[in-house]
Parts: sequence; C-alpha cells; structure tokens
Amino acid sequence: MAKGPGLYSDIGKKARDLLYKDYQSDHKFTLTTYTSTGVAITSTGIKKGELFLADINTQLKNKNITTDIKVDTNSNLFTTITVDEPAPGLKTIFSFIVPDQRSGKVELQYLHDYAGINTSIGLTANPVVNFSGVIGSGAVALGADVAFDTATGNFTKYNAGLNFTNADLITSLTLNDKGDTLRASYYHTVSPLTNTAVGAELSHNFSSNDNTLTIGTQHAMDPLTLVKARLNNYGKVSALIQHAWRPKSLITISGEVDTRAIEKSAKVGLALALKP
Ligand SMILES: *[C@@H]1O[C@H](CO)[C@@H](O)[C@H](O)[C@H]1NC(C)=O
Ligand SMILES: *[C@@H]1O[C@H](CO)[C@@H](O)[C@H](O)[C@H]1NC(C)=O
Ligand SMILES: *[C@@H]1O[C@H](CO)[C@@H](O)[C@H](O)[C@H]1NC(C)=O
Ligand SMILES: *[C@@H]1O[C@H](CO)[C@@H](O)[C@H](O)[C@H]1NC(C)=O
Ligand SMILES: *[C@@H]1O[C@H](CO)[C@@H](O)[C@H](O)[C@H]1NC(C)=O
Ligand SMILES: *[C@@H]1O[C@H](CO)[C@@H](O)[C@H](O)[C@H]1NC(C)=O
Repeated sequence: MAKGPGLYSDIGKKARDLLYKDYQSDHKFTLTTYTSTGVAITSTGIKKGELFLADINTQLKNKNITTDIKVDTNSNLFTTITVDEPAPGLKTIFSFIVPDQRSGKVELQYLHDYAGINTSIGLTANPVVNFSGVIGSGAVALGADVAFDTATGNFTKYNAGLNFTNADLITSLTLNDKGDTLRASYYHTVSPLTNTAVGAELSHNFSSNDNTLTIGTQHAMDPLTLVKARLNNYGKVSALIQHAWRPKSLITISGEVDTRAIEKSAKVGLALALKP
C-alpha cells in the first residue's frame, strides 16, 4: 500500500479514536466464527435501553474480492462488494440495501504517495456525489470533503481539514458543518512501549458560540489490558478498561459520570467481542 497522506477520514483520526472509540453506554455482543471454507460469520447484538438490535454479517474473501452480506432485525439485506487493487492503490466498493432501491452506490478509493481520494456516487437518476481528497505527504496533509446533490444542484456538505505529523505528535484542524464548527485536535505518543498517549480536542460552534474541550489519555497496563479515561469541560468523566483474554477476543467495560448531576445514575457500557 502507498505510504501517502491517507484519506480525508484519517485527518484527526488518532485523536478521535483516543477520545471516543470504545466508550459506550450500550451493551454490545459480537461473535465471529469461521467456517471450514474460510467464510467469516459475525453476529452482533446491541441492547440500547429497552431496545435490542441484532444483525448477522457474512464475509467471504476470494483473492482481492471481499463480499459482505448483512441482515438486520428489520430484515434489511446489506450487500457490499469490495475489489482491492484492480490497479495499484485503487479500491472499488459497490454496495446496496434490499429492499431500499435507492440505496445502491459505488465508491472508489485511491491511495497515492502524495494524494488520497475517496469518492462515492449514488446509483440513482439524480445521484448524490460525495468526494473527499487529500494532498500532502506523511508529514503534512490538506484535505476537503464535499457532497453535491445533482437533483437540486446544491453542495450539501463542505468540510476542510489539515493534518501535521511530527515524530510523536499529530495535530489537526478541521472546519465542518459548512464552516460552522472549527475543531482542533492533538495526539501525543508518550511511550510507544506501553501504548501511552494523551490527546485533546477543542471544538467551537460559531452559531451557538459554544466551546467543547475534551481531553483524554490511554495506557496499556500489560500487553493485554488497556485503560482509557477522558474528561470534558461540561464535567463528564468517562473511563474504560479493555482486556484481550485471548487473541482478538476483547471485553470492554466503560463508565460515564456527569459530575454536575452526580445524583443521576451513572452509565455503564459493556462490549464483548469473541473470536475463536
Ligand atoms: C494524519 O496523520 C496521521 C498520523 O501520522 C496519519 O496516519 C494520517 O494518514 C494523516 N492523515 C492524513 C489525511 O494525512
Ligand atoms: C468514503 O466516502 C464515503 C462517502 O462519503 C464514506 O461513507 C466512507 O466512509 C468513506 N470511506 C473512507 C475509508 O473514508
Ligand atoms: C490483486 O491484488 C494484487 C496486488 O495486491 C494485484 O497485483 C492484482 O492485479 C489484483 N488482482 C485483481 C484481479 O484485481
Ligand atoms: C454521502 O455522504 C453522506 C454522509 O456523509 C451519506 O449519508 C451518503 O450515504 C453518502 N452518499 C453516497 C452516495 O455515498
Ligand atoms: C437547494 O436548492 C434549492 C433550489 O435550487 C433551494 O431552494 C434550496 O434552498 C437549496 N438548499 C440548500 C440547503 O442550500
Ligand atoms: C451549533 O449550534 C447550533 C445552534 O445552537 C446548532 O443548531 C448546531 O447543531 C450546533 N452544531 C454542532 C455541531 O453541535
């Protein structure tokens, strides 16, 4: 794979993952099994309050072609066909949902040494076209992310982002929601040996003049156990512990407390991912 700037979605991703990934207040169970012919079957169940949502995903890999078929509780059938590297650096993704006939889309991802492009087009008469592009190197990247609705002739989304990488420090700046939200983030690797990192994100909303500051940290207590904690300026404190009790099988317990309304019950989330 090309060692270029990556895709637009990679801008600020390390800080986002540090601050938001795996924190949840739901109860989630994932089980992956493999058939003798190599088909991976993943069942997921999520309990959100009183609601229970489940889906089953079947993944089949044949050389460079991966087919994913997912069925959810509402009997929707999601199909995704991914063709990796029909040409160097290129990935083609074709997806549709049955019975939603307007859901078909084609996505092309292209990774080059100095550019990364991700574009997707709906397969309808007047499609929505999503395009994101990044230029730069591994050290500095500048990107834009837009959506164009050909039915109305409007740009329905325009975002821009900037990414700087310097040894153990990654900083990023993005302008989202048509210029209404400015977000700055940083991620600092403190010790690669123990996977210790700190990060922060400051988000400013121009129309409401609100600022949100979230800071977080992570640390591997041993090769199998990761702890994370975060805090924001509204007094929300969250923490999680993740343990791999066998390779790729993870149990994650997370908790969140609103220190300004401590009498309200704290939220506890649980995620269990099993892979034999
Ligand atoms: C941003 O920096 C990170 C960390 O070096 C890198 O992995 C990622 O590819 C960069 N993203 C873009 C879009 O440049
Ligand atoms: C590519 O763009 C589509 C549409 O905007 C988006 O859904 C998808 O997540 C993007 N993929 C990556 C890897 O960024
Ligand atoms: C599969 O990927 C390899 C490189 O990873 C490429 O050389 C080859 O042409 C691809 N084959 C097809 C059928 O896309
Ligand atoms: C374009 O992106 C939006 C949100 O990012 C998504 O909801 C929509 O499905 C995407 N459309 C296509 C054709 O990929
Ligand atoms: C999109 O375009 C239509 C007609 O051209 C216009 O009436 C509408 O206000 C536009 N919507 C947005 C969100 O710009
Ligand atoms: C920014 O503030 C406006 C007005 O309060 C609100 O409608 C919008 O959802 C906010 N945007 C974000 C990203 O929170």
